[in-house]
Amino acid sequence: MFNPLQEGYIENPWPHLAELRAADPVHRLFTGQWGLFRHDDIFTLLRDPSLSVDDVNANLDEMAQTAMFEEHARDLEPDRSILNIDPPDHTRLRRLVSQAFTPRTIETLRPMVQQLVDDALNAMAAAGQADLVSGLAFPLPFDVISEMLGMPASDKIQIRDWSAAIVKTIDPVITEDEVVAAAEASRNMNGLITEVIEWKRANPADDLLSALIDAEDDGDRMSTSELRDQVALLFIAGHETTVNLIGTGIYELLRHPDQLAHLAADPALVPGAVEELLRYVSPVQLTRRIATSDLEIRGRRIPKGSFVLCSLASANRDPDFWGADAEELNLGRANSSQHVSFGSGVHYCLGASLAKLEAETAIGSFVRRFARAHVVGEPEWNGRINLRGLEKLELGFS
Ligand code: HEM
Repeated sequence: MFNPLQEGYIENPWPHLAELRAADPVHRLFTGQWGLFRHDDIFTLLRDPSLSVDDVNANLDEMAQTAMFEEHARDLEPDRSILNIDPPDHTRLRRLVSQAFTPRTIETLRPMVQQLVDDALNAMAAAGQADLVSGLAFPLPFDVISEMLGMPASDKIQIRDWSAAIVKTIDPVITEDEVVAAAEASRNMNGLITEVIEWKRANPADDLLSALIDAEDDGDRMSTSELRDQVALLFIAGHETTVNLIGTGIYELLRHPDQLAHLAADPALVPGAVEELLRYVSPVQLTRRIATSDLEIRGRRIPKGSFVLCSLASANRDPDFWGADAEELNLGRANSSQHVSFGSGVHYCLGASLAKLEAETAIGSFVRRFARAHVVGEPEWNGRINLRGLEKLELGFS
């Protein structure tokens, strides 16, 4: 049984995923959702245009947690960000948002990203010992997306707490207290973003938020609530994911000193190493689709209206796809970029180039400078099933 609540799962989900992948790769969860665990099943499903991401197509009676969710549905404001809507609305809004994510625009961010990384590493070096997550892995993506959007300076800790409460709702199992906390955090976050949009309308600048306000595609603008939901998604997805790639990625390199040494010696290996780390750590472990008709996968019938969770983490370690060394970190792996860490199909991660730019800069600079860093004490995990990552990793540099 897929049970991410079992002792030790967050620290080490891999043996549990391997067991399911082998024994029951099309699995009915105790919560009512279905789960897929094989690379080919997941790759095919994510690209199938007949599936939906819109909750209106879900048969909520099949979900054990539904009654509790429905009770709080009034408090949980609907989120019509592109992650949760289907074409044609998805196509229209994604086209508007993606204007700001062209490879050329992302490339112009390189000097700013390098400066933020250098400043963070200087501060960590000066301290002699530092927490990698609060020193580099969290502030880098947070500051980059804030700067891109042109967010006014705000209370980072407060926003980090709201964001953490909100992303808990994408875990497959969640308690009633967590739903209540998420509803409150989401009201606060939406309130803040609405204020920021109003402020930006009055103070337009050369930034993403002004561009989104102005975004026009053949005269097609976003409504105010659509704009708010896209900004909230960009803001949250912009930092809650990359933090895990940088934090857990560096942790894994420190646990594989031979690979770390190669990487430190040859900067040309960095882009390939980031692809392999994306595969190996799976910063987003799950994504989902909703069946709009009955499906049959490996002889099992998944009824219309079911939530189908795709274990990207399991697909990324499937030996039928990657070979016998699927569970090993191999920075020289030729086909690492075929991981599904950014999903696939029309919802493929819009921020993939940005995430790679940040991770290449942070990880490349870190290993060149701190190849002899060591972990002090035990790492602290963030307790999340989906956005699995480190909360704290104390490092020594001498
Ligand atoms: C290592 C970092 C990241 C990972 C692993 C990641 C992963 C993902 C995944 C798995 C999806 C869903 C894909 C699907 O269901 O097929 C997604 C969607 C998305 N991501 Fe990312 N992401 C990362 C960073 C970012 C960043 C930095 C941004 C933006 C600034 C971003 C913005 C988005 C958006 C807007 C979507 C929705 C796309 C759509 O539905 O059309 N992501 N991401």
